[in-house]
Amino acid sequence: MSPYASDASDRVAPAAPPPAWWREAVVYQVYPRSFADGNGDGMGDLPGIRSRLPYLRDLGVDALWLNPFYASPQADAGYDVADPRAVEPALGTLADAEELIRDAHELGIRVIVDLVPNHSSDRHEWFRRAREEGPGSPYRDRYHFHPGKGENGELPPNDWTSVFGGPAWTRTKNPDGTPGDWYLHLFAPEQPDFDWDQPAVRDDFHSILRFWLDRGVDGFRVDVAQGLVKAEGLPDIGRTDQRRMLGTEASPMWDQDGVHEIYRSWRRVLDSYPGERIAVGEVWAPTEERTALYVRPDELHQAFNFALMGASWDAEEIRRVVDTSLEAVRKVRASATWVLSNHDHCRHATRFAGPQPEGQCPRAGDRALGLRRARAATLLMLALPGSAYLYQGEELGLPEVTDLPDDVRQDPAFARSGKTDGFRDGCRVPIPWTLAGPSYGFGTGGSWLPQPEAWGTLSVEAQTGDPGSTLELYRAALALRRWHPGLGAGDTVEWDDAPHGVLAFRRPGFVCTANTADGVLIIPSVGRPLLSSSPIEAVEGPPGEAFTLPGHTTVWWTA
Ligand code: GLC
Repeated sequence: MSPYASDASDRVAPAAPPPAWWREAVVYQVYPRSFADGNGDGMGDLPGIRSRLPYLRDLGVDALWLNPFYASPQADAGYDVADPRAVEPALGTLADAEELIRDAHELGIRVIVDLVPNHSSDRHEWFRRAREEGPGSPYRDRYHFHPGKGENGELPPNDWTSVFGGPAWTRTKNPDGTPGDWYLHLFAPEQPDFDWDQPAVRDDFHSILRFWLDRGVDGFRVDVAQGLVKAEGLPDIGRTDQRRMLGTEASPMWDQDGVHEIYRSWRRVLDSYPGERIAVGEVWAPTEERTALYVRPDELHQAFNFALMGASWDAEEIRRVVDTSLEAVRKVRASATWVLSNHDHCRHATRFAGPQPEGQCPRAGDRALGLRRARAATLLMLALPGSAYLYQGEELGLPEVTDLPDDVRQDPAFARSGKTDGFRDGCRVPIPWTLAGPSYGFGTGGSWLPQPEAWGTLSVEAQTGDPGSTLELYRAALALRRWHPGLGAGDTVEWDDAPHGVLAFRRPGFVCTANTADGVLIIPSVGRPLLSSSPIEAVEGPPGEAFTLPGHTTVWWTA
């Protein structure tokens, strides 16, 4: 036999390929306005992020997700995109974005950027022309312009309301100044919805995907992924509590079957690039089964699973969420995702501090308890199979800033709801890097939202090297997770029996135990303790046989 010929009989079975990177990645969400300010204008920017990449490498994250940094009038902090191929001048330049992507890759960090396909800014070239040119303009078709109801068209075309409060329609003026058609905006009036039936819209988004893929991005976070297609004829909903229906009930504005075809076409674009480029959807669908449809093998790679973020710090509830979430993604062979905080929600250190009034953060509450539970919740999340999305500042245990003065708030929902809603600024306050100094090291020129006085004591500088700090807890957890792939791998957890209020589950080579109750428990050792969110102690007696498990504490053990 020729020495070059191979014989199937003596081939060694190849080792299983490593799982795709995104299936168990730890992705760190950078909110560019609030991460680091490179030019001292009080607003975070891309050069600022670039200068802090070594911090993120040392933290141990696998990827970054950057919130929108595109040209935008900032009516919704960048989610009103005027030009998706340009960078907002206040945040940097296209060259800065390219350098950021390149530097991150050099440090072994992947980069996911935001894509906002449901709507554009009202200053987007297409929308501007649609308004200026009036009825008959081909640009009108790319949005939802419709005549109003009532004798003179003075009523909106249907009864839909905006997620940010008020009607989802705004009336335009014709070029001659007379009242004209209405246009649809499921969010602010400055965010008109695209009409995805139009080939021009579909084509443009393929080209936007390619624009950023060509610049090396590893993936996209898809904003409002369930919203692109609306029910035929835009039927009335007939209810006033439409906001509550978002993500909980079927509705003609969300989660229409037609969206899936769009994601299949995007998947083909992504797959045509080397290196597992991905899309992760912000999907608010009524059930986990409906959400799972977005992550079928030929659609998006992942969808955020917000169930953990919605759960209270309660063992039974968390177990239910973990089981149903894993079951839903298993059916479509997708990977699970977990989130505890992001730029739209009350930070988990504050959420767990006391009872949460609907849609808002607890203003009072026990901050120390909130942080203790938050640390325990994070360790629990990082032991689950799938990928974890962290939000900047949670590694510092930052609380929500609940006392921002009304006049500094920028969340568009705040004004539109008569100041009863729209409190998202509280999790967007620029993060502290140093103990003291202007804007605690965020930049040299102040900060676009005021930082609380205690911010310095929570800074990276204050926490670095302090073994009890939240930052060092995250660093240790991410290092363990990186070196023991068993922690994020797979799609199942095996539950052990545990006392009321306690969760115990097995992962390959590990056991994770979380006490969600107040009291201290004595538990038999299940292995060697690796990491705990609060100190645990061996109980007197034969060494290592029993440990105290204090309240609101999670422990990782070797199994
Ligand atoms: C998403 C974003 C949010 C934004 C909204 C409209 O929910 O996370 O910040 O306001 O979409 O684009």
